[in-house]
Amino acid sequence: MHTKNNTIYILYGSETGQSQNYANELSYILRYHHHQTIVSTLDDFNLRSIIDIKYLIVVCSTASQGELPRNATQKFWKFMVKKKLPSILLNNLQFTTLGLGDSSYSQFNFAIRKIHARLLQLGGKELCGRAELDELFAGRGKESAFRIWCDEVVSSLDKHIGINEAPIDNEVLLEPEWIVQIDRNSDEVVTKEHELEVAVTRYTKTPNNSQKNQTVPTDQKQNQTHHLLQITENQRLTSKEHFQDVRRLVLKNVSNSPLLPLQNYEPGDMLEIIPFNDPHDIEMLLKWQPEWYKVADLPLKIILNPKLNRKTVLDSTIQTPNSLISTPVEPLTLRSLLTHHIDLTHPPTRLFFNKLYHFSKDEREREKLKEFAGLSPHNYSINSKGFKERNYDADDELLFEYAIKPHRSVLEVLLEFDSIKIPVEFVLELFVGLGLMLN
Ligand SMILES: Cc1cc2nc3c(=O)[nH]c(=O)nc-3n(C[C@H](O)[C@H](O)[C@H](O)COP(=O)(O)O)c2cc1C
Repeated sequence: MHTKNNTIYILYGSETGQSQNYANELSYILRYHHHQTIVSTLDDFNLRSIIDIKYLIVVCSTASQGELPRNATQKFWKFMVKKKLPSILLNNLQFTTLGLGDSSYSQFNFAIRKIHARLLQLGGKELCGRAELDELFAGRGKESAFRIWCDEVVSSLDKHIGINEAPIDNEVLLEPEWIVQIDRNSDEVVTKEHELEVAVTRYTKTPNNSQKNQTVPTDQKQNQTHHLLQITENQRLTSKEHFQDVRRLVLKNVSNSPLLPLQNYEPGDMLEIIPFNDPHDIEMLLKWQPEWYKVADLPLKIILNPKLNRKTVLDSTIQTPNSLISTPVEPLTLRSLLTHHIDLTHPPTRLFFNKLYHFSKDEREREKLKEFAGLSPHNYSINSKGFKERNYDADDELLFEYAIKPHRSVLEVLLEFDSIKIPVEFVLELFVGLGLMLN
């Protein structure tokens, strides 16, 4: 039975978006198994609610030197390491964890190991064991490890919550969580040709509540200025064969305000680069979906799907229910949403294909997309007990060979499939989890 108590909280810590994507994929799978889920960054979760929730899944990568990612350290980890927390704090909590790391680093998956150990120390009980994904095995077992762990999570949750129904048929497209609502009565607004300025001003705007609470001292915030820099040199330092692409960039200040004198910078300082998509790509994408093109420059709003009745749950536990986009570009239109908030260069993920195939009108294209979604009717093998079993490794290889190995972007994939028609309301839902540009 569904109650608010049975909601599964999937909280992620992510530096470059992979954990965010896995958190969203897990949520999508659980929704097909009749579970209610909430996905949020670890830092956006209202920690006072942690004693009230029953089911928690943490998905977290390890950033440099075994550290947690930035969206998990400001509040979540600071709270978790408090010495005065009682060892019975999480006695009512059932949890499990998923780590993302790379075994070429000496501190492989340290962040999730620390989180998992601390949750146990505070009284949490394991729903099932932790899984640790290894970037070094992308295309050679990483995806299958994820899906095997998902199966364990599903069966453990089904038992705990008492769900006996068969999963929802994968031909059914789930309701989107977030809806793009176009104001069709309004006049068109100008969102073309200002991409650079828009990108910079978005970050100098007053942040919304989620950022106000962060621990950056006010005086420091006021001193933060964003500059428009031009790349004048871009040289790869690692050899072409090496798996890591380390570069030396020379940047020239082309904005009106001067940069701070050199002595103000120290080793370890970071440069934040605000990306946006090439306006020509956006034009191509809009023309690929003529229904999008017609409304591309009308103002839009992003709303939580009222049919899912999520607002009450979100309000009490996630501090910023509308934090999907915390500093939206202004004016927000389909064109500016696609330009500034969606990473079209991101490699397509299984979750992306999982949503995409529903919009294909052509049987052959649809079958192809289903293969990449890991739903091909052919990838089964017979296990030692004589039962039909999904061949996750074969699914993994298909996705790897088509998308990951040749570095295909979501934009390239979309343009390859002619028969797809995506309702404009669904645009955001399709891309959620692909990179962190949304925030
Ligand atoms: C600068 C940097 C440092 C990293 N340090 C570690 C590390 O210490 N241990 C580890 O297991 N993985 C490390 N990784 C690998 C990431 O955890 C891995 O690529 C992960 O999939 C990233 O997930 P995210 O996009 O959710 O942050 C590092 C990656 C980068 C780019």
